[in-house]
Amino acid sequence: MDLTFKLYPILNSQGEFTLELSTVIENTRISASVPTGTSVGTKEAVSFSVVQSIDAIKRYNLLNILKNKLTELPTPREFDEILINLDPSPNKQGIGGNVTLLFSVFYAKVYSFMMRIPLYKLLTEVYYPPLFNTRLGETVLLFNLVNGGRHGNSRLFFQEFKIGFLGKKTLMEQIQLAVLLNKRFKRLLKENNKSYGIGLEGGYIFEATDEEVLELLQRGAEGLGLQPLSDYAIFLDVAASEHVHTEDPQNYTYYIPAKEKIVDVNGLIDWYTELAKKFPIVGFEDPFAENDNLGWEKFKTAPRPRQYIITGDDLTATNPTIIKESAQAKYINNVIIKPNQIGTLKETFQAIHIANNEHITITISHRSRETNDTFLSHIVAACNPTYAKLGNIVRGERTEKYNELIRIERELI
Ligand code: PGA
Ligand code: ZN
Repeated sequence: MDLTFKLYPILNSQGEFTLELSTVIENTRISASVPTGTSVGTKEAVSFSVVQSIDAIKRYNLLNILKNKLTELPTPREFDEILINLDPSPNKQGIGGNVTLLFSVFYAKVYSFMMRIPLYKLLTEVYYPPLFNTRLGETVLLFNLVNGGRHGNSRLFFQEFKIGFLGKKTLMEQIQLAVLLNKRFKRLLKENNKSYGIGLEGGYIFEATDEEVLELLQRGAEGLGLQPLSDYAIFLDVAASEHVHTEDPQNYTYYIPAKEKIVDVNGLIDWYTELAKKFPIVGFEDPFAENDNLGWEKFKTAPRPRQYIITGDDLTATNPTIIKESAQAKYINNVIIKPNQIGTLKETFQAIHIANNEHITITISHRSRETNDTFLSHIVAACNPTYAKLGNIVRGERTEKYNELIRIERELI
């Protein structure tokens, strides 16, 4: 088959350029594009600009490799191995993590089209055989209703205030609740004279303290008749690396903007406990900076009002080795999986397998600078994670991913 590829800049959700790769087969256009982050951890695969990406694609002759391989048609796993061997550096500094993922996802999409099998089924067969034939619906979607920190350009300490609806609901039932909660929440903001905007991941942004936001979320959810901790719970992404004041390994300190206060690890833990006593908070993502080992260590044994879901994101960077270490150190019992942090679908699923082997749960996650590509929804459907976070339901690039899940769920059930 003689395929022609097109590679050109398109816009991402932050009005910046990123690359799209596309082709036409049997009058059907197949395309791929990948996201990047804002609060980026130092252990992630590097993300190249458009100019750097084009340069890397030329240097590594990637379009020719792609063309040749699509005539031989190795499996996506074998194609990913070729990409990995081309640039074995741990952070993909030669090809770029975003370029590697672009080719990995594009190849998997073309392959799935040629094999006449939906992408999520292909991913299950190739990477996730133990769960083949499972049903969607066990995943709790974490809706990011309020954006703080760098995602909201506000004084909020927490970057993401997420609500998860509990009690084994279908994805559609969870999305329906998110629709109702959004309506109610906007009304509450109006009643409280809060003028609001929309943050990077579709959450509302407005002037408030972290406590005020939690109160409003609680009122919003309970106004729908939902019971705390049985029907809904709050999950916070602290993204603590963004708030480091001093980096002394024996005593990191953090700055809380809304309180205009500097706290050390003990102070931060006390604040988390105080908040968890007042509000139905169950999840803390990156509660400490990625290198603040003492913070992570102390949090393990700190008294708490209930079991927490403690998630690594910047800490673990979807890196199988670091996930294993962090799980064994018992810093985390959940891990964020972001494909562009590691570079290929093969390595993404390897990270998922490692998390399973270490008996920790996973959260499949989007990034703050997304495109409308929906491959992430297919990864969710392929591995049925305990949690998935795709932002709030109100920005096109987030909405598209929820819509793809709705389509897949309809096909599966
Ligand atoms: P990012 O944010 O894409 O800006 O890294 C998402 C997150 O921190 O979970
Ligand atoms: Zn995070």
